[in-house]
This record gives sequence, structure tokens and C-alpha cells, in this order.
Amino acid sequence: MFDDIPQNRSFDAYQQFVLDCKLYWTRQIFPEVRKRYAAKVGTSEPETGADVAALMKDDTTAQFFGWYERHLQRMKYSGQRGLAVHYGQYREDIAKGLNATVPSHLLELDPEFEQPVYYTNIDIHQHPGGVWSDEIAGYVYERGAQSTAPMLKKHASLWDRMRAQAMQRVGKEVKRVVDLGCGFGASTLPYYAEDPEVDVVGVELSAPCLRLAAQRAAETQARNVLFKQADAMDTGLEAGTSDIVTSTMMLHEMPPSHIKGVFKESHRLLAPGGLSIHLDFLVRDDPFKEYVHYGHSARNNEPFMVPLNKMDIVQAHKDAGFDEVEIVPFEEFDGALDPSMAAWRFPWTLIIARKAA
Ligand SMILES: C[S@@+](CC[C@H](N)C(=O)[O-])C[C@H]1O[C@@H](n2cnc3c(N)ncnc32)[C@H](O)[C@@H]1O
Repeated sequence: MFDDIPQNRSFDAYQQFVLDCKLYWTRQIFPEVRKRYAAKVGTSEPETGADVAALMKDDTTAQFFGWYERHLQRMKYSGQRGLAVHYGQYREDIAKGLNATVPSHLLELDPEFEQPVYYTNIDIHQHPGGVWSDEIAGYVYERGAQSTAPMLKKHASLWDRMRAQAMQRVGKEVKRVVDLGCGFGASTLPYYAEDPEVDVVGVELSAPCLRLAAQRAAETQARNVLFKQADAMDTGLEAGTSDIVTSTMMLHEMPPSHIKGVFKESHRLLAPGGLSIHLDFLVRDDPFKEYVHYGHSARNNEPFMVPLNKMDIVQAHKDAGFDEVEIVPFEEFDGALDPSMAAWRFPWTLIIARKAA
């Protein structure tokens, strides 16, 4: 188990160093790049991220911004004190611990499960071997997530805010929630922890992540959640029984054909009047933000971020059976949407639709 892994001060110090560098990148380097862009843009009017990239091509601060982003993520995972090496030392203990302690009623793995090819082809966000191929992947992912969006650290959790949005908007009694692409369970936890009467299902491709999600649920004595190995576009769950179908940061990790399948599956799973609510990253009408976000997609091994942005999300929902779709910014921490916010942030966005009553 995670908590039995011995404290290692050098590892903690190194990971803290990477996090501090990421904060520096977020709060100091990013605003500097934006300032330099504003100075360069003059009277020309870039229309796309590619126009901005052409303008900033020879700017050394912008080049450093990109190089540093890629390498900080790499440093987090690799090298002597990187996550992969650190948890790799405890691989057998982790596997044994998870297999021995996870209660079977919280976990449904499919030994015959075949991962989609798009998923196994990429080491997503530079995670060595992806988040699925190694017993330690859940732990590596859980620890690594602490420095993905460092500005969130001091605020109410992103996942609590996401649940609050869903609960405010659902407008009907909630008996069942399905969290698609639940990872190690952070996005599922607020639902099962806040209301033991609600039946919650987390769906995920990665067995190591599901094992850790179930372990974390067991640690809270939860009895109202099941972590199930399945594809989000074909969950095998009963149609028409869910009041909320949700996902957090999953859509940008799959190709458009799959995303369309997820919207169809969301519609199939929902009870009449139920809410579909997905949180992801979308840039609209801002060439500078597009330049930064598309650059991030390339630098961080996240190739589907760009096609998600280019998709007709409204039409894809209509094709799935939904009538209306709302696409609105999401405030991941207090003040995140304030125009004076100078630091880097992901373009967090909610995609909301409702099944006809
Ligand atoms: C960025 S993580 C987010 C995890 C979690 N929702 C959270 O907020 O921490 C995206 C997750 O989606 C999962 N995923 C990707 N494609 C999927 C699919 N087709 N079906 C189910 N899960 C998928 C990945 O394995 C990964 O755990």
C-alpha cells in the first residue's frame, strides 16, 4: 500500500523542486511570454494559434517556456528521484498490497479486456508506459497529479467544485452517478463520500488505476461505489438508470470518433431528465490561448487535445440524441476567470447537456 512505502526525503525534495519550478513557469514565465506577445503583435491581428506561433517563433523566452514545460514533466517521471524509478522499487509490494486488500465488491476488472489501440500507442502526458501498463501506474499517476496544475493546491479541490456544479444543475433526485474515465478515483470520490445513499460507478480502462481507486474508497469505508473496467463508450451498464453521467479530463485523451461514442453512451445511460456534464479543456476565439494550448498538446504527448478543440461538440451531442448543449467556462479555483489573472491555467470548460424528460 502507498502508506507503507517508506518516506524518502530525497525523493520528496526532488518532487517539491519540480513543483516549485512548475509554479515559477506558471506565474513568472507565462506572463512574460504574454507580455512579449503583446509587444510583438502591434497592429497585426493574428487569427489562429498558428499565426501566433509564427510570430513568436524566434522569441527566446517563448522557446524557453516550451522547453521548460516539456522537461519539467519529464523530470517528474524520470531519473533517480523520478516517480517511475521511485515507485518501481516497490513494484512487488504495491502489486501484492493492492491484490490483497481491495474488497471485491468495490472492483470489477475484466481479465479479457482489450485496450483500444489509440490508448496503448501513446505514453499519455509523458507517463512512461501510459497510465495502464504497469502495476505501479496508479500510484505514479496519483502522486504526479499533484504538480499538473499547481495553482490548484491551495483551493477547494477541483473535483469537489465539479460535483457542486453537477448537483446544482441536475434538478432532480440523484440516485445514480456514473463517472467516466475515473482514473485513480479522485473525480469519483466526492460523489460517493458526500452521499452514501447515491449509487456511484467509476468506469476506467486502466486496471492499476482502478485498483488504487478501489483501495482509496475502501480506506474511507465506502460501500456505495463500484470501479469497473470498461470503455467509456461501451460501459456495459444498464440503460436509462443514471441521473448524472460525468467525466473530468477524459475527453481530451481520446480521438473524436471515441468522443462521439462517449456522448452516445452518456445519452444511453441517462434516465429521462438526467444530466450529462463533462469537464475538459476548450479554447474559443483566442489565438494566444490556442497557441499555448496546442503547444502544450504537442509538448506533453496529448495529441487529442487539438482534435477535441476542432470538433463540433454541439452537433456531436445532437447526433447522440441531446437537444441542447451548453458550453461554459469552469472556475477551477477562486478568481481563475478574473480577467486580471495573469498566471497560466488550463482552459477549463464544462460541456453540459440534458436528456429529454
Ligand atoms: C486525465 S485522466 C482523469 C482521471 C480522473 N477523471 C481525474 O479527474 O483525476 C483521464 C482518464 O481517462 C481514462 N480513459 C482514457 N480513455 C478512456 C476510455 N475510452 N474509457 C474509459 N477511460 C478512459 C484514462 O485511463 C485516464 O485515467
